[in-house]
Amino acid sequence: MIKGFLFDLDGVLVDTAVYHYKAWKKMANDLGFDIDEEFNEQLKGISRMDSINLILKQGNVSLSEGEIHDLATLKNEAYVEMVDQMTAEEILPGIPELFVQLKKAGIKIALGSASKNAPRILKTIGLIDEFDAIVDGNSVSKSKPDPEVFLKGAEALGLANVECIVVEDAYAGVEAAHSAGMKAIGIGTKTNLPNADIILPSFEGIVLEELIKDLEKN
Ligand code: BG6
Ligand code: MG
Repeated sequence: MIKGFLFDLDGVLVDTAVYHYKAWKKMANDLGFDIDEEFNEQLKGISRMDSINLILKQGNVSLSEGEIHDLATLKNEAYVEMVDQMTAEEILPGIPELFVQLKKAGIKIALGSASKNAPRILKTIGLIDEFDAIVDGNSVSKSKPDPEVFLKGAEALGLANVECIVVEDAYAGVEAAHSAGMKAIGIGTKTNLPNADIILPSFEGIVLEELIKDLEKN
């Protein structure tokens, strides 16, 4: 019996994944190398510090702890400047309608995101009051694919792990869901999310009842 949906934020509720990518790419370019979209897939779902360390490794750049910290702060300032301009129009297709259907069905809604900016973004786009629980980068210590964020999400909703469904756009996020004993809906393609239980391009036109039937069959 499905009683809760745990949503990732970046790339699932809003397309902030493009803003993360832009800000990281600029940082890499300033350091004299480039990152492409294929490399960027690895950055989805993982924390800010894990991301910067992977990027520096990719560019063969070795810096002190202090320099890494300063660069991460600069990246975040550039990122925040972009996300502060967002409006409710940037909520991804089908999400508002899905939330209405979930509430009608008595299914709880939680956030399970690695982002420390999650509450700020949810306030900016006017979604924050829709959540029964929020677990974000400020309340977890381990990056996806560690299941911590989803285990805490289920706990915050007062549900058993198997009663929760995860919605993710990141390979690492789907792995985290499975490690938590939860099924995962992947928003994306079979190529970037071969591990998802169900893959959708978006929630546009999705009927919750049918989606749940498919999840229970899987
Ligand atoms: C995840 C994103 O949701 O949050 C990652 O997929 C990002 O790309 C991570 O690095 C941390 O975000 P923030 O906002 O705390 O830098
Ligand atoms: Mg994501």
